[in-house]
Amino acid sequence: MPSTLFSYLSIIATSILAVNALPGLPDKIYGVNLGSWLLIEPWMLPTEWVSMGGERCDWDCSACIANEYNFAQAYPDTVDQKFKEHWQTWLTQDDVNTLKAAGINSVRIPLGYWIVEPLVNRTSEFHAKGGLLELRRGLKQLKDAGIPVVLDHHALPGVASPNQMFAGRCTGDVQFYTPHNYHRALVWTAVMTALSHIHPDFSIVASIQALNEPIMDANQTPGLGEFNKNFAQTIRAVEIALGIPVPGISIGISANLASAANVTVAVSQAATLSSIFNPEVRQALKDAIPMILYAANQLGMNTIFGLDGLRNVLRKRQPLVVNFMNAQWQYNNPSNPADGAIGPTAYDNHLYYSFGGVADANEEAYLKHLCNLNRIEEAAAIGNSPLWFGEWSLATQFAATDDFLRKWADAQKLMYGKGAGYFFWNFKIEEGTDTTRQWSYLEGLKRGYLTQDPSQFHDPHIRLKEEGGLIW
Ligand SMILES: *[C@@H]1O[C@H](CO)[C@@H](O)[C@H](O)[C@H]1NC(C)=O
Ligand SMILES: *[C@@H]1O[C@H](CO)[C@@H](O)[C@H](O)[C@H]1NC(C)=O
Repeated sequence: MPSTLFSYLSIIATSILAVNALPGLPDKIYGVNLGSWLLIEPWMLPTEWVSMGGERCDWDCSACIANEYNFAQAYPDTVDQKFKEHWQTWLTQDDVNTLKAAGINSVRIPLGYWIVEPLVNRTSEFHAKGGLLELRRGLKQLKDAGIPVVLDHHALPGVASPNQMFAGRCTGDVQFYTPHNYHRALVWTAVMTALSHIHPDFSIVASIQALNEPIMDANQTPGLGEFNKNFAQTIRAVEIALGIPVPGISIGISANLASAANVTVAVSQAATLSSIFNPEVRQALKDAIPMILYAANQLGMNTIFGLDGLRNVLRKRQPLVVNFMNAQWQYNNPSNPADGAIGPTAYDNHLYYSFGGVADANEEAYLKHLCNLNRIEEAAAIGNSPLWFGEWSLATQFAATDDFLRKWADAQKLMYGKGAGYFFWNFKIEEGTDTTRQWSYLEGLKRGYLTQDPSQFHDPHIRLKEEGGLIW
């Protein structure tokens, strides 16, 4: 019956669209984080950090030179060179080759706001310069390897998480959740979106993440819901400016934009679209223009639209995947990032058992908790789908045997792989540290905890019982 056949086919088509909704990313992400590359967390490279001139103060990373900010403040004359040496050696062509050979099909790159250098207030904020050039170098290598990238805004202006190395500065004075710093994060977003579309080496960027791990108590993050909406709008506004079609936005200005001579003109025109974009977003676009030009100059990049040049490239670009931590990351009546979603959007959850509060500290409790994990379903119920697990590791609160770590890796891969996939934290850890064995993907591969092909499991019969509990 043709009509039955037709509806059958359209159901297939719909479900194909549903799994394939993330342009530029594989259907199933088998990914790793490139942590401590352009944003150093000294615990991951304790020996190198001390040899660079850093210090260790393990119980309070604000008490010594144990974060990027304190390092840059202590060594203003040498920080750029010291960090450049680190950037060039922490992620190399060999590493990219190894990841490729290990079947890694995506990476998440944690970044600080300071990679957009004009955003930094140099009288009160201390950070290395030159990271953008190394990002470009790494993106080129990843592009050549065919490994797409999520750019993760991990260390936000004003600091978004108290006393954490990953925030770029260890301090209890958290100032991100304020209008001034939300605005700077939007400007960052506009710049990174523009670069992702107009620089050939950045074309491997498939997604940008708004904010890594906001404070979990939503009472302490006022304005975050509004920021998330503005984040999506900012990405889409830049894309509209560049002439990239975005599902969900139809405007009659494309002819106008198509005649724009260069990026400055195009972005300025988008900044006038008051019927689509709110004043905060339009102001972020205006403030981003000189910074896009600054970055373009730094990268020696074309910002002129010739009909046979950049304009042609842009016409073929797909919109970026907008990425948020899912709403359930927070408690106390959090806002829902799905409320402001426009075009392709993905959600990110992180799960570490090693910090406590998840399951009792023993093998059975870990596996049982994991088997009953329903985070993907819970997120989907409020529209936070597709969801990936952007961070996880093999770390445990107890001394784990090699045998358990093989099971633990299998079980986590199985459960996190039920959604859009996952990114392990981290691709590497300095060799010979206390954390290398359970936090380094490459070490886990060497030790045989992780399978050489990430889509496989040690136990091919791994499956779930209805009532929960794994069968091995
Ligand atoms: C930079 O920081 C200093 C010190 O906090 C402050 O007085 C100044 O207003 C800031 N400049 C800008 C442009 O925000
Ligand atoms: C962009 O176009 C404007 C207006 O035509 C012009 O003033 C400006 O110099 C151009 N910028 C570049 C980088 O070519």
